[in-house]
Amino acid sequence: MKNILVTGGSGFIGSNFVRLCLEKVPACRLINLDKLTYAGNPGNLLDVADDFRYRFVHGDICDASLVGQLFQEEKIDTVIHFAAESHVDRSIEGPAEFIQTNIVGTFTLLEAARKAWKLDNNEKSVTGDDEAVTESSPRFLHVSTDEVYGSLGETGLFEETTPYDPRSPYSASKASSDHLVSAYYHTYGLPILMTNCSNNYGPFQFPEKLIPLIINNALNSKDLPVYGDGKNVRDWLYVVDHCTAIIKVLQNGKVGETYNVGGNSEKQNIEVVQTICDILDEKVAPLESGEVRRSLIKFVKDRAGHDRRYAIDASKLKNELGWEPSVDFNDGIRMTIDWYLDNTEWISAVIDGSYQDYYDKLYGER
Ligand code: NAD
Ligand code: TYD
Repeated sequence: MKNILVTGGSGFIGSNFVRLCLEKVPACRLINLDKLTYAGNPGNLLDVADDFRYRFVHGDICDASLVGQLFQEEKIDTVIHFAAESHVDRSIEGPAEFIQTNIVGTFTLLEAARKAWKLDNNEKSVTGDDEAVTESSPRFLHVSTDEVYGSLGETGLFEETTPYDPRSPYSASKASSDHLVSAYYHTYGLPILMTNCSNNYGPFQFPEKLIPLIINNALNSKDLPVYGDGKNVRDWLYVVDHCTAIIKVLQNGKVGETYNVGGNSEKQNIEVVQTICDILDEKVAPLESGEVRRSLIKFVKDRAGHDRRYAIDASKLKNELGWEPSVDFNDGIRMTIDWYLDNTEWISAVIDGSYQDYYDKLYGER
């Protein structure tokens, strides 16, 4: 039985991960530590709230005493660290929370793991001795992003060895946390694993990110803002594929290693937006104006420091661990649109802010 501390499990990827992990890994107990910022939604996990293997803890990863207490009382042997401030535009408006959660929060977790797992710089029990790593060894899996590598030109792919070159406060804070994680491996022998993933999409994504924002606006006849010329490229990965990659890395990855995770699915933003418009035109009632949804597209001022292109080389994960994405973008975007169409209650609760009341319904007054 693994006792897994999942941080940020009430967010987009974290909640998809919790659901998948409970389904695929029967011998696990999951403790979800989440601060429930605007991005955390207990309603994302209503269906597993009563599972005896799942516990929700409302709290901040920067709270060293709470984190230390959880390691002890739950005998945590595995950490999957999702919790972060995750939206680039918000990091441009106000970077402070990004520094706090992404850097100080990661540091707090690393320290708690180091203490709980009794590692110090004289006791490098894992590094340099792969034979010592067993199924029951503790593991700290840090979930990161491809944005730490900076921006690509027309060609080339991010590899695990690509030098870090973050450009936004978000990516700089994630790069900083990656360096801390790596330093704890080299210095203390903390048994870390790291994944750097491309842009995710799918169910439960907060509608500030491109895909859910466009779906929601297009359904409500609102403008569809496209930054700059719309030709920035992202490599899209269906969220459940990201979660299967994380489980694979956790179970079979080599301690100390980084694995890039990508969808092999590069698209210009404008292509993504047009695709969503066309699928919605096909699936739902036409706009009142009688025009096609592409007419709602508005090119707006570009994002400051907008990275031009991201694209991942995920061949290490494929060759060493046998992972490949299973959902291609054309299917994934239809599945995602269907999910938003079928879950109008979820989206309206998020838009009107009432999603935060799910907490009281599930766990009583805060
Ligand atoms: P999200 O913004 O949807 O969710 C973040 C979660 O973390 C929320 O539940 C929030 O309440 C929680 N949280 C924030 N600050 C916290 C704190 N101080 N203490 C405890 N909980 C806190 O993010 P996401 O899109 O699910 O991303 C999850 C992770 O994956 C992040 O680390 C992100 O950098 C990384 N990532 C995301 C993408 C993507 O496309 N979304 C791609 C690659 C990597
Ligand atoms: P986003 O979903 O914010 O992810 P990230 O910045 O982490 O890649 O944005 C994806 C791309 O879409 C990015 O190039 C910025 C662009 N974008 C828009 O053109 N309009 C929007 O309203 C948003 C939110 C993003």
